[in-house]
Amino acid sequence: MTHLVVNLLLVLQNIQKMLIDGIETCAPGLSVKRVVVDFSSPNIAKEMHVGHLRSTIIGDTLARMLEFSNVEVLRRNHVGDWGTQFGMLIEFLFEKFPDWESAGDTAIGDLQAFYKASKQKFDEDPVFKERAQKAVVRLQGGEPRYRSAWAQICDISRREFDGVYQRLGVSLEEKGESFYNPYIPSVLEMLSELGLVEESEGARVIFVEGFERPVIVVKKDGGYNYASTDLAALWYRLNIEKAEWIIYVTDVGQSEHFQMFFKAAKRAGWLPDDDKAYPRTNHVGFGLVLGEDGKRFRTRSTEVVRLADLLDEAKARSKAALIERGKDKEWSEEDLDKIAEAVGYGAVKYADLKNNRTTNYTFNFDQMLNDKGNTAVYLLYAHARMCSIIRKSGKDIEELKKTGSIALNHPDERALGLHLLQFGETVEEACTNLLPNVLCEYLYNLSENFTKFYSNCQVVGSAEETSRLLLCEATAVVMRKCFHLLGIVPVHKL
Ligand code: ARG
Repeated sequence: MTHLVVNLLLVLQNIQKMLIDGIETCAPGLSVKRVVVDFSSPNIAKEMHVGHLRSTIIGDTLARMLEFSNVEVLRRNHVGDWGTQFGMLIEFLFEKFPDWESAGDTAIGDLQAFYKASKQKFDEDPVFKERAQKAVVRLQGGEPRYRSAWAQICDISRREFDGVYQRLGVSLEEKGESFYNPYIPSVLEMLSELGLVEESEGARVIFVEGFERPVIVVKKDGGYNYASTDLAALWYRLNIEKAEWIIYVTDVGQSEHFQMFFKAAKRAGWLPDDDKAYPRTNHVGFGLVLGEDGKRFRTRSTEVVRLADLLDEAKARSKAALIERGKDKEWSEEDLDKIAEAVGYGAVKYADLKNNRTTNYTFNFDQMLNDKGNTAVYLLYAHARMCSIIRKSGKDIEELKKTGSIALNHPDERALGLHLLQFGETVEEACTNLLPNVLCEYLYNLSENFTKFYSNCQVVGSAEETSRLLLCEATAVVMRKCFHLLGIVPVHKL
């Protein structure tokens, strides 16, 4: 019994401390100082598809949770900006838009259509194909005209990507494949000196345990590939950036690539044999986004989904729902827009993050924008309700924090209080296991606990008003932190 009393006292003290000193004091302390999160990473001139959206959302959340845990995070966008496709794109640019330099990047317009047309020409016209292949060599040799055409093409893609990042509130630093290209020869040299690189069927390869096929590091034609770039990038991240943990967020389809080159890095002694020891690498794989038909998510025209369109629709739908509830008459146009974005984009993010990332999930606007069930909309409502309870009490909550105290006499108050204090360890678990759904589950349960408390315990006008208002505030504070870590913008009214 005394044990219980002491525990309850501790719970009370900790909630109060959190309210006064701020939630940062709940942050877990991880044992690493610097982490690379390699995420989003779309390919220039190819479409940025829903797979990249998943990578962007999951990677951003992991980065946010690690940052909250006092780790320095290098948010890296490993864009595909250095493939053989550039020879073809550049020659097509020269041919179609001879005045490309003066026309600026308005010449190309839609880069995806441009890619398609140039690919078609590449496949059909052998003379063009040969020119394109030579162009790759000229580009990689650093010829200025080829370099600036390449830069212009990259810029167009970059602007499109940045638009999506801005809307999603995601910050990233681009260090694309081209950045690591100059490091490849010396890194391969090091690996060769260690006796790791062998000749096989005209290519240069590294054999790794557990796989029959080797990692190809120099192709038959002498060119480098995805794996050689990733080895150079890993070397750079470990030795120049001094990262202790490198996290790669891509679809599970690429897991073999990662397992293979991680093993090559172990053979080289760059990484310890023990997977849990640092420096350490992890591939954070995720499943597919499916459409209602159970197949890969596509638009009606079977084209891939443009992310900007998808976000437009999320916003439009949430705005329509708000208008249906008469909010356009209550709020300013600006508020309506802002809240529609917060709800719409938050819904898209949460629908993704709440699933265990390795499973496939079905993309469904109606479901994710439902205000009941485990959705961002439901959670945002719960938070807005807490804010409104506090507002309507007419009490100055900042003042109450200093003068009032919390008591947890009702079982539903205790359940809520205990759940609040599990926040720190939940973030730690989500970080160490790289599973954002752990935090989503916590948030949903927090909201459920609150609902139970609120339906069984009168707040405003009760004898326990001060304590219960403080409990509302503590719940709102933790909810806001969860939203923040999930990249969702909380709203104070809904
Ligand atoms: N650009 C690749 C893709 O679109 C993802 C890159 C992931 N990062 C890495 N270091 N390989 O699939």
